[in-house]
Amino acid sequence: MQQITQTDPLSHSANIVDQNIAQLKQLFPEVFKEGKIDFEELQATLGEHIDLENERFNFTWNGKSQARREAQKPSTGTLRPCPEESVDWDNTQNLYIEGDNLEVLKILQKSYHQKVKMIYIDPPYNTGKDFVYKDNYKDNLSNYLELTGQKDADGKKLSTNSDASGRYHSNWLNMMYPRLKLARNLLKDDGIISIHIDEHEYSNLEKILNEIFGEENNIGTIIWDKRNPKGDAKGIAYQHEQIVFFAKNKNLFSSKNDFKRPKENALKIIQKAKKIIQKEGLVNENIRKQFKNWLKVQAFSGGEKAYSFIDDNGEVFQSVSMAWPNKKQAPSDYKIPLIHPLTQKKCPVPEKGWRNPSKTMNKLLEDDMIIFGHDEITQPRKKYLLKENMYENVPSLLYYGGSDDKILKTLDVFFDTPKVVQVAQKIMIPIINKQDIILDFFAGSSTTAHAVMELNKNDNGKRKYIMVQLPEPINENHKAYSEGYRFITEISKKRIINASKKIAEENPEKAKELDLGFKVFKLDSSNIKTWDPDAENLEQELFDAIDNIKKNRTEKDILFEIILKYGIDLTVPITEHKIDQTNVFNVGLGALFICLNDTITVAVAEGIASLKEKLDPAMCRVVFKDNGFADSAIKTNVMQKLKQHGITEVRSI
Ligand SMILES: C[S@@+](CC[C@H](N)C(=O)[O-])C[C@H]1O[C@@H](n2cnc3c(N)ncnc32)[C@H](O)[C@@H]1O
Repeated sequence: MQQITQTDPLSHSANIVDQNIAQLKQLFPEVFKEGKIDFEELQATLGEHIDLENERFNFTWNGKSQARREAQKPSTGTLRPCPEESVDWDNTQNLYIEGDNLEVLKILQKSYHQKVKMIYIDPPYNTGKDFVYKDNYKDNLSNYLELTGQKDADGKKLSTNSDASGRYHSNWLNMMYPRLKLARNLLKDDGIISIHIDEHEYSNLEKILNEIFGEENNIGTIIWDKRNPKGDAKGIAYQHEQIVFFAKNKNLFSSKNDFKRPKENALKIIQKAKKIIQKEGLVNENIRKQFKNWLKVQAFSGGEKAYSFIDDNGEVFQSVSMAWPNKKQAPSDYKIPLIHPLTQKKCPVPEKGWRNPSKTMNKLLEDDMIIFGHDEITQPRKKYLLKENMYENVPSLLYYGGSDDKILKTLDVFFDTPKVVQVAQKIMIPIINKQDIILDFFAGSSTTAHAVMELNKNDNGKRKYIMVQLPEPINENHKAYSEGYRFITEISKKRIINASKKIAEENPEKAKELDLGFKVFKLDSSNIKTWDPDAENLEQELFDAIDNIKKNRTEKDILFEIILKYGIDLTVPITEHKIDQTNVFNVGLGALFICLNDTITVAVAEGIASLKEKLDPAMCRVVFKDNGFADSAIKTNVMQKLKQHGITEVRSI
């Protein structure tokens, strides 16, 4: 039975360099000589595609190479489950993870590789006042534990990135770059990242996204007009922010998604038309005028204005030309005149003919889809019904002037820079489908989680969220502090709980089907001494105790560390079994059995084998505690027994 030691890939998060080299090897086996890359050979293979000029297009800043290396370093940390702070632990598929998002993104690399449909983030904008997390490239995990007060350190503090700092933009870019690189790996091939940003870093953000995602995958930028110019401007008073969209692979995204959203006011317009008609009785000139005037006012706030007609059946439509669109003349069947229904005379045919052949024109007539003028002089046009065109491309302008301050107050939440739930929903709708996972690793007050719950409530969806947020301490002068909150994570968990309670109260029937819970996990160092290169006094500890597991860590802590290292997702079904007085965890319906007790016997192996036979998983692996066997003979017999039942992947920790 092979033990998983510190050098084993299973003891740490995904090694991205190794993965990239494996891919390179697949593409260019000839450039590998005795396991190393022959760079000259690679250059020769790529020939003219290599740019050897000294001056070339490049975006760089102080610290970039180190930031790139940082993204590639595996994490030795883990996520410890915290059921006591979770809601509906046993059933929920949502995750709330506390920790520095760089480490967390590394830890999620195996389990959530290509699983996330949408990443939606709102990072610090680098206004000079907001705090930008400073990574410590030597040991980021210890740095995190110190900064968040979980480990002793003198004088270390979380502070803001001041615009007086000489490295103002570099600091921000160094923070963002490795995170975006890691985040990209988690996206599905047809996934999208969308990022809120303002004028401070918009241009820099777009440049690093071009580099990380490829310029060809830029979907575009939405300008969010907040209708509230910043009052303290010395230059132009900005009243907008940007929301930048990049696809992992634009072609794949477009072939699988239509990136359309329901038209802003379409339903409202249809309902208004119905209302006017109900009041007035029959459709008449007065109704048509009233409706047009009402639309004009609507259009002023960014609404739909093209659909400005109501037909005799009360249907809202716009009128479109039916002329043949090409330069050449249409065939003769496309040139048959229409007869005016009142005068019974021929109406004019467009110069090059109709857009459709006579059969289609007759069908349109039959369906009352053609609009005639008062007499035969006017060329007839076609109706384009609003009810059949309720979706539209996502426009580059988003008007939304409101804030969620009131909503947050009712939820007992105090947070300075929340995004707007309605805006978040608008952004998500054209991208995420009902079953998708959405990730926000700058969760703040968890607007994203709130928006996901709202969307699911509206359409009975099963979208799942993953929130990641630093336990950033709250300033003593902040209202939240006087209300008893000490960390932003407390605010955001409370927000999810209170928002979900509200949804459940207002929709008691629907709520039964909704996933309103979340599982809390917290970033920490590895539970397993030999997996943790930084464990203090490791030798001494090893000498003192044969136990490989750190003090104060629970069986469940270790269980989830193994789950993560095996690349299984954190919401997989787990059942507990008592076999021969010994606890066995069955993870993912037989995909992985984990036994961490000191009483492992052949009977335990038999129990695992019979569970495997019953569940018949595609792949079955077993992990035991290395010193959980009374002696080496039992260990050998356990291996034998499992082998007899076709289980050969057996490891110990
Ligand atoms: C602009 S706020 C996000 C607000 C959020 N969209 C909302 O609606 O409440 C950015 C958040 O990112 C968090 N943050 C900054 N650096 C982080 C890091 N390294 N890891 C995790 N969270 C971080 C900050 O604590 C802050 O709450």
